[in-house]
Amino acid sequence: MEEKAQITVNGQTYELPVLTGTENEKAIDIITFRKDSGCIMLDYGFGNTGACQSAITFLDGEKGILRYRGIPIEQIARNSTFVETAYLLINGRLPTQAELDKFAKSFTDHAALHDGMLNFFKGYPKDGHPMGLLSATVCSLSGYYPELLKPEPSDEEIDIIAAELLSKVRTISAYMYKKSIGADFVPPRADLRYIPNFLHMMFSTKDKDYSMNDAVVSALQALFILHADHEQNCSTSTVRLIGSSWANLFASVSGGVCALWGPLHGGANQKVVEMLEEIHDAGGDIQKFINKAKDPKDNYRLMGFGHRVYKNFDPRATIIKERCHQLFETLGMQDPLLDLAVKLEAAVLKDDYFAERKLYPNVDFYSGLIYKAIGIPTKMFPVLFAIGRMPGWIAHWKEMKTDPRSRIGRPRQIYTGPNVRDYVPIEKR
Ligand code: CMC
Repeated sequence: MEEKAQITVNGQTYELPVLTGTENEKAIDIITFRKDSGCIMLDYGFGNTGACQSAITFLDGEKGILRYRGIPIEQIARNSTFVETAYLLINGRLPTQAELDKFAKSFTDHAALHDGMLNFFKGYPKDGHPMGLLSATVCSLSGYYPELLKPEPSDEEIDIIAAELLSKVRTISAYMYKKSIGADFVPPRADLRYIPNFLHMMFSTKDKDYSMNDAVVSALQALFILHADHEQNCSTSTVRLIGSSWANLFASVSGGVCALWGPLHGGANQKVVEMLEEIHDAGGDIQKFINKAKDPKDNYRLMGFGHRVYKNFDPRATIIKERCHQLFETLGMQDPLLDLAVKLEAAVLKDDYFAERKLYPNVDFYSGLIYKAIGIPTKMFPVLFAIGRMPGWIAHWKEMKTDPRSRIGRPRQIYTGPNVRDYVPIEKR
């Protein structure tokens, strides 16, 4: 029997259909509610608002479950590669070997930057934040593919744009890094796989090849996989919203980069390490910073804690913490910030303020320490999140484009400004 919900407004009852997802998630379909009742639904931060139905990622924040196309994240992080995960997210299933080879080869074909693009790097301030340049360069890729910028590209055309984005984002990021340190660009190599090629472009020099380390490659692989999608978060919703106006995939993803940049979202990994440095430099008094975060008169937050949907633990954080310790052990490294992070996490988990609000370490808490150990500068951390999130953005844009129910995104509002009043000429004000 079809499920229904009833909403009563001023004594009048309205019956609305209830939808059920494959994991038994329920939604009340309010699409006709305003027309019938005159009311909109108000939901700051869209905490309880669905904007689409999606078959890409399932997450249950209460149980700490995250699955890409049905496959638990723990299995993917243990067994897959970032490129295979990207294929899974974008195409809905795991590839055959031939399909994977073809997909990986398309990255090699699209790795190099167009000559004209190098001017972007020359003109951007050396110390400018790399996310600004990443967003600009990603959007500018549209200029090189006018033939692909149709409102309804075919699957083959989307595949070309996807390869272009997934491959170029890594080249652009490495080039930005070289520019920031005043070093020469190192071009991509056709014989290297996705992550080694990125590390090569980042850390090889004209005179010396980067010495590839399996532990580093594997840690970065895991991080990219864990960041690859997270359903309707701020940046992915932004990508879908921009794309809903029929803007092209390059433009939509460029907006996603900007949304990700914020410290409450993908910029948190940079802020975590900066926070740990601040605590360390101030003498390591963890309690002082915890108290500051708990003070209702202070806006200060402990970065890397809390999540809109995870209310018990973030399964990505559990894996990243383990990988972080493994990497430090394998490389024989020590970092006082790691010790501080462990102590801070333990102190937070014992504190009632954080327990009552269900604030646990999130994906960004330990990821920055891994990037730091690899030698990636702090400002670049959100860029690495963006590389990792690229498959998710592409998959959602593609899903939105191919769903006949998609409409231009256009939330409503409750107006709280002045009522109608007359314009007063300037001399009479
Ligand atoms: N430190 C201290 N207090 C916090 C924190 C924190 N990190 N996060 C939330 N709170 C408090 C907040 O002050 C509020 O308290 P009260 O009820 O007394 O007013 C309560 O917890 C609920 O917070 P909220 O802002 O309503 O929660 P939200 O769901 O809107 O925000 C969040 C989620 C992730 C933006 C937030 O927890 C936060 O700012 N965390 C720090 C930044 C961070 O680590 N972001 C990365 C998130 S994971 C990567 C990603 O997927 O984006």
